[in-house]
Amino acid sequence: MKIAIAASEAAPFSKTGGLGDVMQALPEALSQLPGNTVCLFLPYYGKMKGNPKFECEYITSFHVNLVWRKCHVGLFRLKSNRKRLQVYFIDNEQYFKRDNAYGYMDDGERFTFFSKAVLACMNYLDFKPDVLQCNDWQTALIPVLLRSEFASCFPDTKTVFTIHNIEYQGWADINFNNDVLGLPGEWLSTLRYGDAINFMKAAIVTADAVSTVSETYAGELQYPYFSHGMSEVLTLRSGSFYGITNGIDTTVFDPAHSPNLPFHYTAATLVEQKAKNKAALQLELGLNQEPDTPLYAIVSRLAGHKGVDLLCYICDTFMSRKAQLAIIGTGEAQYEQRLSEFAARYPGKMTVKLAFDPALADRVYAGADAYLMPSKSEPCGLSQLIAMHYGTIPVVHATGGLNDTVKPYNPETGEGRGFTFQSYNGEDFMDAVDRSLRLYETDRDAWNKLAARDMALDVSWDAPAKAYMEMFQKVIG
Ligand code: GLC
Repeated sequence: MKIAIAASEAAPFSKTGGLGDVMQALPEALSQLPGNTVCLFLPYYGKMKGNPKFECEYITSFHVNLVWRKCHVGLFRLKSNRKRLQVYFIDNEQYFKRDNAYGYMDDGERFTFFSKAVLACMNYLDFKPDVLQCNDWQTALIPVLLRSEFASCFPDTKTVFTIHNIEYQGWADINFNNDVLGLPGEWLSTLRYGDAINFMKAAIVTADAVSTVSETYAGELQYPYFSHGMSEVLTLRSGSFYGITNGIDTTVFDPAHSPNLPFHYTAATLVEQKAKNKAALQLELGLNQEPDTPLYAIVSRLAGHKGVDLLCYICDTFMSRKAQLAIIGTGEAQYEQRLSEFAARYPGKMTVKLAFDPALADRVYAGADAYLMPSKSEPCGLSQLIAMHYGTIPVVHATGGLNDTVKPYNPETGEGRGFTFQSYNGEDFMDAVDRSLRLYETDRDAWNKLAARDMALDVSWDAPAKAYMEMFQKVIG
């Protein structure tokens, strides 16, 4: 199958969150399956342009129009000896040579440009994929452009739109079509949502199929509580709406080989080696060197939907227990401040590092005993998968992908993968934490067995990549 994928970020080139991880692993996993060729299209951000690690060759340049704007498109290809996965970068310094990937007044215009440029470049390359998969609002106009302006170029290409997070939809003023996008008036009803333009809504109604990143989230999105206004539109697509749970790239997240870890381990050496990683981590983070105090960790964007308010709510109670807490992340100023205040109150017991630091994150996953993820909503979540893969037991709110990937531990049978709570409130969260503490304190052997079992789970992209292929097959018909 010929597959094109368009996204606004992909590790290791650029990453602000889980989308970047998925866009590193999914194209690779698909390209490994027999008979597939995959082309990945990304913006050529200023930061990676000068990076000698990512050497590219220049292919061509031309212009696309955004109404009156004549916009430069430079097309580059990553130099690589992989035959079945090509990575293309779309260059335009006015739009992409900036400090950050997102967060600008003209983001709508920037990613409209990118969406148009992707189709124009595919046309230039004469790459006519069977399926074009797009991700989140930044590439949501692609299915619409493919059926309108580019219809004659790609008559046989099907589109799949994947939702990684419904909260960011790509809203624009109703005049956006006249000012920037420039599609014929008959497309306005597709683009319009209420009295504005909404990129995601346009993709949901236009793509041949819609998917999201876990089965539970796919179900949740059909309810207003989770859908940020999109439930009715999504319910209309329920016949071609899929939930496929992400995996993680087990070559990147690999406790047996990761260059970031002081002590490598497998499920067989977990107990001794994790203890060494834990001691090293406690030292690095300024926590008391207490081998028998369970160390809980969080590596996260500090945003509301990650459940930081619940964490603040239980923090004093939690810190009254025999436990340590390490938090790594950046995000909303109010949360950065509150968590730092808590940490200052509990020196040696709790620490907060306001940083986005993948190498430190790796050591935290390896050194911690348990991992907290009280997200209010969670489309899939990758951290709980990484934690389990590192033998670090998750404590999670049973929502979205967390519900699909962390089955509750049953002390009677020893089944399950971690500790969960059902309703989003502080008491229930604390209760789940207490259940985990009890197991750690009273039955270390059972704790270690659970950790080793979590570690042995297959959280790779093998199964998800096959599920994507099945969805693509259905879409092609
Ligand atoms: C978003 C979601 C997260 C998901 C990731 C990759 O970051 O918030 O739950 O795992 O996308 O799909």
